[in-house]
Order: sequence, then C-alpha cells, then structure tokens
Amino acid sequence: MAKTITGFSKLSKSEKIDWLVNTYFTNSESTKSLLKQYWNADEKLQQLHDEFIENTITNYYLPLGVAPNFLINNSVYTIPMAIEESSVVAAASKAAKFWFDRGGFKAQVISTQKIGQVHFTYDGDSEDLDVFFNHVIKQTFLDDAKHITKNMEKRGGGIVDIELRNKTNVLDNYYQLHATFETLDAMGANFINSCLEQFAITLKREASKSLNANLNVVMSILSNYVPNCLVRAEVSCPVEKLTENPNVSAQEFAEKFVQAVAIAEVEPFRAVTHNKGIMNGIDAVVLATGNDFRAVEAGVHAYASRNGKYTSLTHAEIKNGTFSFWMEIPLALGTVGGLTKLHPLVKLALELLGEPSAKELMQIVAVAGLAQNFAALRSLTTTGIQEGHMKMHLMNILNQFEATSEEKTKLVEHFKTNTVTHGAVVSEIEKLRR
Ligand code: MEV
Repeated sequence: MAKTITGFSKLSKSEKIDWLVNTYFTNSESTKSLLKQYWNADEKLQQLHDEFIENTITNYYLPLGVAPNFLINNSVYTIPMAIEESSVVAAASKAAKFWFDRGGFKAQVISTQKIGQVHFTYDGDSEDLDVFFNHVIKQTFLDDAKHITKNMEKRGGGIVDIELRNKTNVLDNYYQLHATFETLDAMGANFINSCLEQFAITLKREASKSLNANLNVVMSILSNYVPNCLVRAEVSCPVEKLTENPNVSAQEFAEKFVQAVAIAEVEPFRAVTHNKGIMNGIDAVVLATGNDFRAVEAGVHAYASRNGKYTSLTHAEIKNGTFSFWMEIPLALGTVGGLTKLHPLVKLALELLGEPSAKELMQIVAVAGLAQNFAALRSLTTTGIQEGHMKMHLMNILNQFEATSEEKTKLVEHFKTNTVTHGAVVSEIEKLRR
C-alpha cells in the first residue's frame, strides 16, 4: 500500500487508524488494540485529548509523580513532576528533605517582562524611519492595539514599550519593532503575537502613507528568549551542617561541590550535562503544570550562553563558613490560559501547588531545578551517579524481563545489598527462573 496519502486530516479518527495500521504495521489488529488500550474510557475526556492536537490516534502517557517536603520561602509544597526518567523524582524528594532541615529554599522573582518583535526591511533613509516611528506613529501602535490590550491593562499588564531597532549593521535593510510586554499570570504567547500582528498592520498602513521607500514586514513573533523574565532560587547553610555522610567531612563535601560547579562554569561539555540535570527538574514541573517546556528549554539554554560561551546555570561558594548555592534563570510561565483550565491533570497539579500565580510558579519551578542539580552534584561528588540511578532503574530492567510480583520482591531485596548492573539483574533473574 502507498505510504503517502492526501486528505489524511479530513479522515475520521478510526479511518486514520485504519490507514496507518494497514500501511505500516504487519499485525494491524494488535496495533489497533494497542492504540485503543491507551484511549480513555470516558469518551468526553478522550475527545478533549483528541482535540488538543491534530491527527490524534491515541494518548501517550508519561508518569506523573510528586516530590513532597519542599520548603520554599517558608511554605511547604508537594511538587508535581511529569517525567519518564527514573530517579529524577527520588532525587528531587531527597534534596527537598535535605534542605527542609536546613532552612529550605528561598526564591525571588527578579523581573517578568517578555519580548516580541516585528521583523521588517526598509530600503530608505534610516533617519526618516526614526522620525516617522518616534514622532509620528509610536502612539498609533498602542491605540490600534487597544482592543487586544484593554483587558490585560485592567489587570495591570499590557504593552510596556515599543522601540524601533536598526539592525542594518548585521543584515542589509533589516529593522525591528522590539516590544516589551507584561502578561501577568498568562504565559502570554497569544496576547503578544496578536499585539505584534496588529503592530505589523499599523506599520504597513502608516508607512504607505508617510514614507517614500519600500517597507516590508517579514514576520511578527514573540521571542522565547526572556532574559528579563528572571527568577532566582537559592539555598545556604553553615558548612558544618552540610553532610550526613560519616565518611565525608562537611568541609570536604562543600569544597568538592563548589569545585564541581566551577568545572561546569568553565567547561561547556560538562555545563551541558550539568544544565540537563537542572532541566530534569524544571521540565518535569513545567510539563505537569501544562506549560511549554520547549519554550522554556530554548530560553534557558540561550541564557546559559548569554556571555558568548555556554556555561553553568548554577553557582556555588563557601564564604565565612557558609555554603551557598544559587541559580538565576529566565522562565516564561503561565497559570491561566493554555492548557491550565483544560487538561484535568494540569488543573490537579495547579491545585496541588495551591493555585499559584505565574510568579509563584516561576519560584517553584526554579527551586525544582536547583534541587535537582544539588541532588545530582551530591551523588556525583560522593558515591557517583550510578549507585542511586541503577537502584531506581532496577524496576525498568525487571519490567523488561516481565518479572512477576514475587520475582520483583525477591530481587529488590537482593539488590538492597548488591550493586545493580544490567548484567547482574539478568543473571539473578535467570538464577531465580532456573
Ligand atoms: C541525568 O539525567 C542528569 C545528570 O547527568 C546531571 C549531571 O550530570 O549533573 C545526572
């Protein structure tokens, strides 16, 4: 059967599935029943999920876990995390408990502004454009966008500023309207993009009246780089309170930890992995709360290279006997709009967090990232990552071998005192089954 199709999107869901399984799968019946196995029995709920995206054929599950005991700015949170990687939630929980007993996490939103740009070309005199923008039409942009901004303005947000930026030094005839927005509890992508598209209409209309050169709008879109939507998370405590491990002195642990962060600050190969560990925590909460993790990822990594070299997002120091560990990251998050009122588990996650404002969610997410990095560095600089990771991964290996509950109980017990490696687990399963 042909592997291409026209009009696929017009087919019903079951017609789409029929075409797919008959075209690509040898056992079409078992493929069909697998797809159906992941449908929700509640038809309305399934339809809701079908309509989140296009061409939906089934649901793709991720586990939703929780990490309790997070003390953030003196309030206790249980943090929801949607992630497939074993040991991430356990690590977050462990770090939460560790810092709970040492004063908890402090977090602070530094700024909340977001950026959007209208990119355009203009082949006339740049001074004419400057006069036209600053003295003729700047206010018109705001007036024309009023129908989009008035509700946001009532709540205290809206367009903060619009600037004309001359970028002809980097690309011929290239200019921007560079606009700054305050979108309060909304992530704001739709609001910003609607404003920008209105700016583009105003720009073209007014330019055709007042300018004697060609002005062409190339595109209007928000930026996912949000270096002015920043949150800081930190922990600190006297060095002597830092270790629970009798084999490592607190001072030794603190110094090694600071050294590990310093390595990530100067060595991009390490920084990427270091930051990936931070994103384990961040993405999991971003996903659980229905936010756009791709936007967050793109913005955070751009921020990590803001000085021209990719570097660690976290920093650590020992000063006057105090260990401090902190991070500042850009996070554009929303707690209204998007999936927040639609996806039942997103609603649940937000209720679990006490219906946070976007600012509170920024703090919680940043703390989850810092906690994750703390847990990773603590393992890496002491026992190594594999010991804990493989213990958590044990269940995945057992499931690969379709271990029964009885086998699982025996093997989990066995590996409490034995090192987990893939080979060791396989050999123990074989022994049991012999
Ligand atoms: C694994 O998902 C994340 C780590 O590699 C992070 C790190 O190395 O810091 C453990």
